[in-house]
Amino acid sequence: MESAFLDLLRRRRSVRSYRPQTVEPEKVALILEAARLAPSACNQQPWHIVTVDRPALIREMALCAPAGTRINKWMADAPLVFVLCGRPHPLIHQAAQWIDKDCHRLDVAIAGEHMCLMATELSLGSCWIGWFSEKKIRRLLHIPPAYTILALLVAGYPDEGIRLDEPVDHDLRRKQLVEIVSWNDFRAPDAPDYHS
Ligand SMILES: Cc1cc2nc3c(=O)[nH]c(=O)nc-3n(C[C@H](O)[C@H](O)[C@H](O)COP(=O)(O)O)c2cc1C
Repeated sequence: MESAFLDLLRRRRSVRSYRPQTVEPEKVALILEAARLAPSACNQQPWHIVTVDRPALIREMALCAPAGTRINKWMADAPLVFVLCGRPHPLIHQAAQWIDKDCHRLDVAIAGEHMCLMATELSLGSCWIGWFSEKKIRRLLHIPPAYTILALLVAGYPDEGIRLDEPVDHDLRRKQLVEIVSWNDFRAPDAPDYHS
């Protein structure tokens, strides 16, 4: 069965090399709108997104690697970085701890992936960044202590040769469904033959 959404999912990939071209404000607005529409536990919408488009600041962010590492320096030349912050609601957070759930992280992750997919739809590359020093980013962007910094999302027009209009060949890059899905019982991988 054809699906335009599945086609979008197949075209998204992590982009780590960008043209210096500025992203149009209308496109930035659409990416932020995609985040705003995301679902969240109890509709708390516990996110705050710091949108960074100042090249000097992005260059500094690229140096905010975890201590002793030089990871993610490539992001220095990207035109846009979204900093995904989450604020755990005091009551919900407490309840979440009792039942051993941390919903604000899930909420922010859902909003972040909405943003990545919207970026792909707009012919923009994106990349999640999980390896960074929260302390250094917090200091640089004056993020208050009540907020956790969950991830950075780099975005912009991909460098020559990176085609977002063509699907990635995921056959080798992703596990097969039979490895990750079971039906009615964790131990039962035999699925109806939906995918042939
Ligand atoms: C939560 C999260 C954190 C990630 N952190 C980094 C990172 O710090 N640096 C990086 O280059 N890629 C990072 N990635 C990108 C993954 O490496 C990438 O999504 C994965 O290899 C699959 O490749 P694809 O996105 O091209 O399909 C991260 C992805 C996720 C979802």
